[in-house]
Amino acid sequence: MKMRRIKQSIAWLGAVDWDRRLFDSLIPLPDGTSYNAYLVQGSEKTVLVDTVDPTMVEVLLAQLASVQNVDYVISHHTEQDHSGATPHVLAKYPQAKLIATSKAKGMLMDHLHVSEERLITVADGETVSLGDKTLEFLHMPWVHWPETMATYLREDRILFSCDFFGSHLATTDLYVTDEGRVYEAAKRYFAEIMMPFRAPIQKHLDRLKGREIALIAPSHGPMYDKPAFIMDAYRDWVADTPKNVAVIPYVSMHGSTKKMVEYLMSALAEKGTTVHRFDLAATDIGKLAITLVDAATIVIGTPTVHIGPHPLAIYAANLANALRPKAKFVSVIGSYGWNSKAVEQIAGLIPNLRVEILPPVICKGLPREADYEALDKLAAAIAAKHQELKLS
Ligand code: FEO
Repeated sequence: MKMRRIKQSIAWLGAVDWDRRLFDSLIPLPDGTSYNAYLVQGSEKTVLVDTVDPTMVEVLLAQLASVQNVDYVISHHTEQDHSGATPHVLAKYPQAKLIATSKAKGMLMDHLHVSEERLITVADGETVSLGDKTLEFLHMPWVHWPETMATYLREDRILFSCDFFGSHLATTDLYVTDEGRVYEAAKRYFAEIMMPFRAPIQKHLDRLKGREIALIAPSHGPMYDKPAFIMDAYRDWVADTPKNVAVIPYVSMHGSTKKMVEYLMSALAEKGTTVHRFDLAATDIGKLAITLVDAATIVIGTPTVHIGPHPLAIYAANLANALRPKAKFVSVIGSYGWNSKAVEQIAGLIPNLRVEILPPVICKGLPREADYEALDKLAAAIAAKHQELKLS
């Protein structure tokens, strides 16, 4: 797409990546993504806010073809989807300085081989004047790297937030038009990379509370001309209290574990708990991550392979451990052939989760009456725990 004007002196640039289906060779992108950059032309200086993924360098350079001069390039975040094209931009504008946090300085030199003399570091709260416009830099570490910042354009009340508030969504819309669609994409993005950093993100949200923000311009997905929509959503996602939701990621080889999952799901639903179940052999892990944002309980369903859990269940446990959701309870259910250490091994895979382990239900072969009774007890225990915490 071509450069698009937001205001006379401010433009959207960047690339919409309609076809990308995987990020970090891990994260599914069912709706593609975008790498947004922005151009702000002050009365004296011009700044480019972020760049694009290295695969889209030509798109950005074509948009910049008519821009004679860039004085500053802001690097909010070193990850290559925003900084990968930076060396090309610095080569096109040899007088331009790259603005970043002091933490980012070394990272930009390491990851992109930017030379030290091209870099200017800015402190938290520091400002740079473009003449009639003022850039204020707000350090925002751990969204989701340690070096990250955002920029507030004071006169226009625009927050350039980089990954913060972003959504992996390829669209021709400059602004949010379909809140439901963007909510899902933004929640997926939060779940996949920001959920482990709920505490620092809560602080950043608090810091933005008193600030007048007319527009949030993130580096992925459409801009928010009604910022309250995404800021309210984030406040909900980072809150410590989960919802009355149980998630059951499971895998079944010959159907026994699946029978147990179906029985437990039904028992929980009868008690008023919302259940999301995911067949790990076929699921989009992004959807699993989204449900982990709200879930109070995680029940991993796994058959026993040799003596331990199924590798797909190990993957799910590893993922949950890495994402550090706010869940309060965990259990394990599943079937084994002749012996099993599945429960002990799963429990050892989730040291980051601050959870109470509820009694597991492991059965030999096809579940019998006593196993279904144990699943009823587990459902009752989960429902009672949720009730104690007054979850809704
Ligand atoms: Fe969109 Fe952390 O990069």
